[in-house]
Amino acid sequence: MRSTSLIAPSILSADFCRLGEEVDSVLAAGADMIHFDVMDNHYVPNLTVGPQICRAVTSRISAPVDVHLMTEPAESLVPAFAEAGAAWITFHFEASRHPDRTLQLIRSLGVKAGIALNPATPLGCLEHIMDRLDMILIMSVNPGFGGQQFIPEALNKLTRVRRMIDEGGYPIRLEVDGGVKIQNIGAIAAAGADTFVAGSAIFSAPSYGEVISAMRSELEKSVGCPEN
Ligand code: DX5
Ligand code: ZN
Repeated sequence: MRSTSLIAPSILSADFCRLGEEVDSVLAAGADMIHFDVMDNHYVPNLTVGPQICRAVTSRISAPVDVHLMTEPAESLVPAFAEAGAAWITFHFEASRHPDRTLQLIRSLGVKAGIALNPATPLGCLEHIMDRLDMILIMSVNPGFGGQQFIPEALNKLTRVRRMIDEGGYPIRLEVDGGVKIQNIGAIAAAGADTFVAGSAIFSAPSYGEVISAMRSELEKSVGCPEN
């Protein structure tokens, strides 16, 4: 049974000078959680925010904060983000020398654990860790920047991961990140995603509410949506 769809705006495309207001605005506009992109200029060629800013956001809102670590080694920042109030912590399979151990560490701190797969990461890496996962994040762009084009092969990958989740009966959310827009969110949901990260599509629009509502109506129309 597919979980309810969640929309998670990525603050990467927000106005950082007004981060608190931006977070309030997307939540008032109907977002379900805040996607918090952490980049270290090592695993990815860009640098963003750390646990201190995460704490500022989690103290301000009651909605969950979905931390996406694009940092290497992934595990070293896990305790600080757990302490900063993250509800979810997702790291990249290649960024941890011992992904199984890192997943256990995240859960041991009372946080939901996720693994992110880059466009070129094969699905075999999931095979022996399904029991340790609360979220699988399929990257539909190469990590590091907002505003990139959705890579269509991600649809095939989502379909295959959805089958793995459903056949095993695992309570795992299937998140997609990169290039998600009103125009493609229906097809992405039909392929199996239930959690949708969108940065530039939301924050570059004059009305966040209009974009989020349009995304929701596309999700309702989609054949893969549990509401149907
Ligand atoms: C990319 C980040 C994404 C990004 C999404 O490395 O993980 O969360 O901000 O931005 P858009 O929706 O603009 O592709
Ligand atoms: Zn992200």
